Amino acid sequence: MKALITGVAGFIGSTLAERLVREGIDVVGIDNFSDYYSRAQKEQNLKWLHTTVKEPWPRFRFIETRIQDTDLATLLADRTHVFHLAGQPGVRKSWGRDFDIYTSDNIQATQMLLDACVGTSIERLVYASSSSVYGDVLPANTAPPSAWNWARTESRDSRLREDGPTRPVSPYGVSKLAAEHLCSLYHSNYDVPSVSLRFFTVYGPRQRPDMAFHKFLLAAHTGQPITLYGDGQQTRDFTYVDDIVTALISAATRGVPGHVYNIGGGTRVTVRQVLHMIERVTGKSLNIVDVGSQKGDMRHTYADTTLARTELGFAPTMDLERGLAAEYAWLLSPA
Ligand SMILES: NC(=O)c1ccc[n+]([C@@H]2O[C@H](COP(=O)([O-])OP(=O)(O)OC[C@H]3O[C@@H](n4cnc5c(N)ncnc54)[C@H](O)[C@@H]3O)[C@@H](O)[C@H]2O)c1
Repeated sequence: MKALITGVAGFIGSTLAERLVREGIDVVGIDNFSDYYSRAQKEQNLKWLHTTVKEPWPRFRFIETRIQDTDLATLLADRTHVFHLAGQPGVRKSWGRDFDIYTSDNIQATQMLLDACVGTSIERLVYASSSSVYGDVLPANTAPPSAWNWARTESRDSRLREDGPTRPVSPYGVSKLAAEHLCSLYHSNYDVPSVSLRFFTVYGPRQRPDMAFHKFLLAAHTGQPITLYGDGQQTRDFTYVDDIVTALISAATRGVPGHVYNIGGGTRVTVRQVLHMIERVTGKSLNIVDVGSQKGDMRHTYADTTLARTELGFAPTMDLERGLAAEYAWLLSPA
């Protein structure tokens, strides 16, 4: 495998790069250090390159560029696999004028990358999609739009299935879904071997500073108040970053082109339960401030991972409390 990773300085991209390089795989990584969060944290994400060996790792080449501004044909010429992780994350920021960034970095950049793959010998392009493409499963008192949709949206235990309806509740979700459709289109029309993975809330060392666990753990450590959106009874299916990396590599080698897979850790807990876990992990009691629910936040996410288990051999291994402890240890580690 000769990999191209887009968004390589980010939370997931840098963790994937580190795994691949340590396994002896030749990696080219690109990132434009977008200003969604600090450049310093992203540089820190790539620090392993410099601390593990004296010189930058010979099998890793980093290029600072935006996907839209680089010569993709040259970049792809000697690559066999593409991991497309670059994008503008964040549900809450995606409303208003900032949507421009989401259309550019999530939709346009994906289309340009797919287009550049046409006619190449790329064996797989793995796209980092999101559970945000689903939107809310219908509340119990809402009439389902059709019996067919309803049956497919929710299996008996409310898990989200890949063939269920997609109705994003945020502009971010819309942009991720649009890019996923582009992957399918380029596969069906131009044989680009794309595989999309719908990640369910990813956590662990290097987690983005805007994400809940990062903020909660930091606030617990420093004694600052924790802002809680919603009533705390919303549930999430949390996925440890190493399990995500394993799924990305499986998708690149075993994923069926054109297929979309849910990748969820299988531990579905309420946000309140997470807060109790955080108290145990940090040994501190929390000062919680309730601020009400936010537009675009999904109420529940819970992945049906049958397809990923069957076709990718996906089997998440990290227990949530252990994973939180690993993230806390990373947050406390010296820069
Ligand atoms: N973290 C999660 O829980 C989660 C869940 C679902 C989906 N995803 C998706 O996974 C991917 C990675 O997420 P993350 O949490 O690591 O985010 P991240 O922000 O840490 O990483 C994304 C990286 O992409 C870079 N980037 C953005 N636009 C770019 C462009 N046009 N050209 C080059 N580089 C660009 C950014 O500088 C950043 O370093 C994203 O596409 C995100 O939508 C993440």
